[in-house]
Amino acid sequence: MTAAKTVFIRTFGCQMNERDSEIMAQLLGRCDCRLVSVPEAADLVLVNTCSIRDKAEQKVYSLLGHLRDVQAKYGRPRWLGVAGCVAQQEGERLIERMPVVNLVIGTQQFFRLPELLARLEHGEKHVVALDLSKDFVIPPFQHLLNSPSRADAASGAPVQRFVNIMQGCNNFCSYCVVPYTRGREISRPFADILEEVRLLVDQGTREITLLGQNVNSYGKTNQVAAGPRRFPDLLRAVAQVPGLKRLRFTTSHPKDLDLDLMRCFAELPVLCPHVHLPVQSGSNAVLARMNRGYTAEAYLGKVLELRRLKPDITLATDFIVGFPGETEADFAATLRLLETVRFASSFSFKYSDRPQARASQFPDKIPEDAKAERLAQLQEKQNEITFEYNRALPGRTVEVLVESAGENGQGRTPGNRIVHFTAASGQALPAPGALVQVRIDRAGPHSLTGTWF
Ligand code: 5AD
Ligand code: SF4
Repeated sequence: MTAAKTVFIRTFGCQMNERDSEIMAQLLGRCDCRLVSVPEAADLVLVNTCSIRDKAEQKVYSLLGHLRDVQAKYGRPRWLGVAGCVAQQEGERLIERMPVVNLVIGTQQFFRLPELLARLEHGEKHVVALDLSKDFVIPPFQHLLNSPSRADAASGAPVQRFVNIMQGCNNFCSYCVVPYTRGREISRPFADILEEVRLLVDQGTREITLLGQNVNSYGKTNQVAAGPRRFPDLLRAVAQVPGLKRLRFTTSHPKDLDLDLMRCFAELPVLCPHVHLPVQSGSNAVLARMNRGYTAEAYLGKVLELRRLKPDITLATDFIVGFPGETEADFAATLRLLETVRFASSFSFKYSDRPQARASQFPDKIPEDAKAERLAQLQEKQNEITFEYNRALPGRTVEVLVESAGENGQGRTPGNRIVHFTAASGQALPAPGALVQVRIDRAGPHSLTGTWF
């Protein structure tokens, strides 16, 4: 018998990638493999990559360069693998550019990791699996991988977990590489998702985030998997799982956020009053060139409707500044939209050309220094607004789902804000998984601290 193979996984990018890495780790746990925490101790180092912006991609190349040095120095890792969006985008070119890479796994192929690893073990120098098909069927075993792992048994199941409900994207926003790297939208079967949630909740998970590039189109494209059911039906079904205390989802496309979904916020007590609704820009001309399929007015209309249905809902968003042709007036419209909505938080990025995306061919590229200037202005405004939300909190009591309880407790509010807290008068802290009321004592620009009574 051969010794157990050791694998080190490093993940870049979004929650989707985090979940994919988790699935790969779960698959490896079922064959003769063990995860290790340093690359020098690994037979295989697998880098799960992101190519959403050029900066993300460059980080991957610099890590690969570093791993090549580690290998030269320690003779380990034996093999270097690249998975995820950069793997899909670059394919064989990755090996040409970095011959030290042995394994390239595309975004629909990571389920095959054990088999691909076995091929390396049998002496193949380069193994490449890149098929990306609109007829891809998400392997039906994902939910079954969720029986407790040894790590969970030792430390207790995580309070918060992600459940993937679909892969890919059909929207083709003109700046975005995702439809090329992750392929067409494919939904997982309704029953598998429910089963996965049940398994996780049975193990002690209390908060589930349903994940997809555009969850609102769940079930719309490949109807076989979801049957006639759509995303709001899925939310309603998941919300019924006994023992689940909080439900979230990400990400939503504003053009597909319909009234049925909005009503779920009013209807389902476990659905957290928080939504991530990427707007990207406040200028209709820019939104049109981005191919977003809505106007700033339509977006604001949905925000009003959400707030009417669920007055305490908080909103988060994404912005891109410096999209090709973005004028000062366009950017001013983005700042106005930010001030009108007053997002509780936002992620903002400088536009980055992606080779496969249409906008890379658009004229009137914005110089880097102008993009940096706009980003700084936007972030300054957002920080003021976020701090204002925070400053309203001291003295108020918020509901916190406890995620860890060491010396201090840590958990999140329904609006997804992290709260650090202590117990009043020497009581023991509540265990992870408990829903408790915490009085907020202090609010910094990015942190909240409080007391549990
Ligand atoms: N340049 C900059 N930001 C981008 N995003 C997606 N593609 C690009 C790009 N080419 C941002 C969008 C999206 C988030 C995940 O990343 O804001 O919502
Ligand atoms: Fe990219 Fe647009 Fe799809 Fe989001 S909806 S993944 S931004 S193409």
